Amino acid sequence: MLATEPPPAPLHKAQNYYEMDVSHSHLELTLKAMHAHDKYAMLDLYHTLSERTLYMRFFQVIAEPSIDELHEFTDIDYQKTFAISVFHGASNQLVAAGRLVKLGDTSDTAELSCIVSDDFQKQGIGAVLVKHLLLMGKQVGIKTVVAMIQGTNRAMVKLLKRSGYPCQIEFSGGEFEVVVNLDNEFTSEN
Ligand SMILES: CC(C)(COP(=O)(O)OP(=O)(O)OC[C@H]1O[C@@H](n2cnc3c(N)ncnc32)[C@H](O)[C@@H]1OP(=O)(O)O)[C@@H](O)C(=O)NCCC(=O)NCCS
Repeated sequence: MLATEPPPAPLHKAQNYYEMDVSHSHLELTLKAMHAHDKYAMLDLYHTLSERTLYMRFFQVIAEPSIDELHEFTDIDYQKTFAISVFHGASNQLVAAGRLVKLGDTSDTAELSCIVSDDFQKQGIGAVLVKHLLLMGKQVGIKTVVAMIQGTNRAMVKLLKRSGYPCQIEFSGGEFEVVVNLDNEFTSEN
């Protein structure tokens, strides 16, 4: 039997992503590539999300996902999706999650989405998560990141504007479209 080809080095790195970081409010965070074994932690995370948070992330208030749906959501194909789970505390609680999804198999553009538990919002976790998602994107050759953001979601627009990369922001139909160019990095805030 032929051995399975190993994934190219950047994909292998993304699929094994593991970093420690600290938010501006001194929360110690562990950021790991998301895998199917995160599905139960994801269910716990779902239970901490307000209707507003769900609506901002999914553009609708989604019902509690089944275990099969959670499995599908967390069983990432690292050829086209790059996802990070963020853990905090002695109990290793999943407090946030985010992903980049390539717009096509050969595309170097990916759509970003992320979510932070309501109990942990406004403590800098979103900023840390976005920083690592963009780093992961760069590692795997993503050049452009787009995000569709509800018009009332100032926090998310702020996070991307402060990401350290040039951003183009357009507003239409009640939504922002933010385009982040990973090819150029600023040394100071936009
Ligand atoms: C958007 C989101 C990811 C931000 O995460 P977070 O951990 O709260 O972000 P940070 O703590 O790093 O804060 C980033 C900035 O946004 C501000 N902010 C956070 N939540 C806010 C809110 N509800 N209203 C206004 N500003 C807010 C913070 O105060 C901070 O600005 P500051 O540094 O000037 O104080 C989080 O609120 C969330 O999960 N929202 C619902 C899902 C969502 O919107 N996903 C994005 C769809 S692409």
